Amino acid sequence: MEKIVVRGGNPLFGNVEVSGMKNAALPIIYACVLVKNKCIIENIPGVRDVTVSFNILRSMGASIRMLSKNTYEIDCTNIDIESVPVDSFRKMRASYYLLGAELGRMGRAKVGFPGGCDFGERPIDQHIKGFEALGGVVDLENGNISIEAKDGKLVGTNIFFDLVSVGATINIMLAAATAEGTTIIDNAAREPHIVDLANFLNTCGANIRGAGTDMIKIKGVPSLHGCTYAIIPDMIEAGTFMIAAAATGGCVRINNVIPKHLESIAAKLDEIGVTVEELDDAVLVKGSHEMTRTSVKTHPYPGFPTDMHPQMTVLLSQAKGVSYITEGVYENRFRYVDELRRMGAQIKVDGRTAIIEGGEKLSAAPVKAVDLRGGVAMIIAGLIAEGETEVEDIHLIERGYDDIVGKLQRIGADIRKVILPDDENTLAKAN
Ligand code: EPZ
Repeated sequence: MEKIVVRGGNPLFGNVEVSGMKNAALPIIYACVLVKNKCIIENIPGVRDVTVSFNILRSMGASIRMLSKNTYEIDCTNIDIESVPVDSFRKMRASYYLLGAELGRMGRAKVGFPGGCDFGERPIDQHIKGFEALGGVVDLENGNISIEAKDGKLVGTNIFFDLVSVGATINIMLAAATAEGTTIIDNAAREPHIVDLANFLNTCGANIRGAGTDMIKIKGVPSLHGCTYAIIPDMIEAGTFMIAAAATGGCVRINNVIPKHLESIAAKLDEIGVTVEELDDAVLVKGSHEMTRTSVKTHPYPGFPTDMHPQMTVLLSQAKGVSYITEGVYENRFRYVDELRRMGAQIKVDGRTAIIEGGEKLSAAPVKAVDLRGGVAMIIAGLIAEGETEVEDIHLIERGYDDIVGKLQRIGADIRKVILPDDENTLAKAN
C-alpha cells in the first residue's frame, strides 16, 4: 500500500511548473476516436486517469505511442467498440465521452455506466436528452449504455440543457461534430476545457463556434482529419499550488498558467489578504499570516470552481473569523470534512454549506484521501499541521496530479511517498 507522509511547518518558496489540464486532456483523448488518422497531442499530464483512458482506447485497437515526455501519437484508424472491458468504465467518469465519440464515428455506441468521485447522485440525464434529440435510440441495461443512431447517422438539432453540465456539453459536441446539419447547444458549460476541446476539434476540421459562451453552434462536417494539438494548463492544479503557497505563508511563482482562468481563485485569495501578482503566463502568490474570513459559493465557470472547494476549506481554516463555503454544483462534496476534523479543524456542515471556525492550529493525524480534490486538501493540511501527517489512498490523488510529491519537494515541502513493505511485490521506497 502507498501513502504520502508530510511534515508541517515549511513555508513554500520557489517555482513550480503546472502540467496539462486533466479535464481537457481526457475529452480530447476520447475525441481522437472521431479521427480515422493520427493525432499528436502535446502537454498531456502524467496522471492515472490518462493511463486508464489510453488502456481503454488500446483495448479498442487504437495505437498510442509516446513521442516525448507528455507528447503522444494517438491513432484510432482501426478500432472496434465491442472490445472494451466493462469494468474499465467504473474506474473513472470521463470514459463516458466514448458515447459521443463512438456515435459520431460509427452511428452506434456502447459503454459501461460511468464511475468517478462520489459526490452523491451524478445522473447523466442531460447527456441522454442530447443524444435522443440528435436521433439516438438509448438502451440502458446490464450496467451498459447502448445507443444507435436512427438510420445510422445523427441529425443536428437545437438542444437546451436543463442545467449546466460540463460532461453533457462535451458529449454532445463530440456527437454533433460529424452529424448531418447544425446543432445548437443552449445553456452550455463555459469551462476552459470546453473551449480547448472545441479548438482541438476545429483543428481536426470541425466547425464549432461559441465555445466558452452558453451557446455553442456546431455545423456537422463529413469527417475529421489528424492534427497536432497542445492541451491547456491545468487551472485546478495551479489553484491548488496557489492555496498551498498561501496556507504555508510562503512565496511561490506558479508557471505555465493562463491567468484569466484563475481570476475567481485570485479574487478570493485577495479578499482574505493573500497577494496574487499576475504575470504573462504565471502568477506569483505571497502568503500572509493574517488572513481574514470570507464566504465562497462554488459555481460553474467563470464562478469559483467546485474542484477548488476542499483546498479552499483548508485555507479558510487558518483565516481569522467564521468562513462559509457553499457547494453549488454537487449534492454532497463534504466527505473530506471528517478527515479534516481529525486534524483539529473546527467545521460544521449544514446542508450544502460548511461553516469554518478559522484560526485553529491543525495537528497531524493519519487521514485518507476520500476523493481526488479531498485528497490533495489533506496534503495541504499536512503542510501546515504540527507534526507528521500520513495520507492514505493516494491513488485517488494521482488520478489528477502529475508528480505532486516531487513538485512540492522542489519548493521546500517536507513530503515523501512511502510504499509499505506489507505489499510483498514492492520494496519500501521513500523519495
Ligand atoms: C466534470 O465532471 C469534471 N470531471 C469534474 O471534475 C468537475 O467537478 C465537474 O465537471 C464540474 O466542473 C471531468 O472533467 C472528468 P457536470 P462532470 O456534468 O462532467 C449534475 C475533478 O475533480 N448533472 O458538470 O461529471 C451532476 O449531478 C472532477 O477533476 C445532472 O444532473 O460534471 C452534478 O451535480 C470531479 N445531469 C452537476 O450537474 C447530467 O446529465 C455537474 O455535473 C449531468 C450532470
